[in-house]
Amino acid sequence: MKPNILQLNPILVPAINAELDALYTMHRLYEQADPDAYLATHGATLRGVITGGHTGISRAMMERLPALEVVAVNGVGTDAVDIAYARSRGLPVTGTFGALTEDVADMALALLLATARHVASVDRFVRGGLWPKFPQPNAIPLARRVSGMRVGIVGLGRVGRAVAERVGAFGCPVRYTDLKEIAGVPWAFESDLVQLARDSDALIVCAAADRARDLIDAPVLDAIGPRGFLINVARGRLVKESDLVKALQEQRIAGAGLDVFADEPNVPPALLDLDNVVLQAHRASATEETRAAMGRMVLESLAQALAGQRPAHSLTT
Ligand code: 8YV
Repeated sequence: MKPNILQLNPILVPAINAELDALYTMHRLYEQADPDAYLATHGATLRGVITGGHTGISRAMMERLPALEVVAVNGVGTDAVDIAYARSRGLPVTGTFGALTEDVADMALALLLATARHVASVDRFVRGGLWPKFPQPNAIPLARRVSGMRVGIVGLGRVGRAVAERVGAFGCPVRYTDLKEIAGVPWAFESDLVQLARDSDALIVCAAADRARDLIDAPVLDAIGPRGFLINVARGRLVKESDLVKALQEQRIAGAGLDVFADEPNVPPALLDLDNVVLQAHRASATEETRAAMGRMVLESLAQALAGQRPAHSLTT
């Protein structure tokens, strides 16, 4: 009999879904009209769970899965998984560590370029038929040069380093902050986030959200200042959104490029009215290439765990 696997979010790669269906009896909770009743019926049979980084899994849900042998996160953020509880049951929690680094860093660059160079707002200007109505160059304010900007990275993990490398190619001096100084990297460490923000034209948030929330608040935003930009490709709750909305409305920072939000899929409505913000829908890892690689890692993790091995992609910290 094929093992029963619970899946909490869709996977958009047909080949991965086909392989999951070939190897397992898949229980796709997001397709169920009554997920609660579905879990009551099938919970005791489920040996593995696949969840998204932003979805994770709560203790309450794991408690409904007494036969669970592995939590396979289709992502790198494990902040939404109750790790302590999973550990207490000896459940390996796996991730797709390393698979999405390049794409998330690319998205950080895309957001920085789009925000500083007004790519989205000018797209709206052209699409809205406004160019012929306002043909003078002064109809659109001048943008800001990204090349050479002083970049501050919040969280120098895999993604932070990949962002630092990319902006290095743009001639940007880079500084970073993290829980502690990281040996062997070419970028300067700054322990004080406010000081880092003060010294940056663009502050790029790449940190894990296991421990922190509301890191980027009014004092940090004011240190970024009216000429500075905030980019977030990590987790929405690392930014105090009410402070960010206010700072953008009052133009106390120049702009923000955001892939992630505190209460996805809900975006603070005030942001929708602001031209100095570029918004994405938590899409940084959403390329065919990366999602296929992530899906492969999920398949490996399930296979290893269900064979009684410790999965190679297990969370180690
Ligand atoms: C994904 C993420 O959107 O890896 C993460 O932690 O948040 C994202 O890359 C998500 O996990 C896809 O399931």
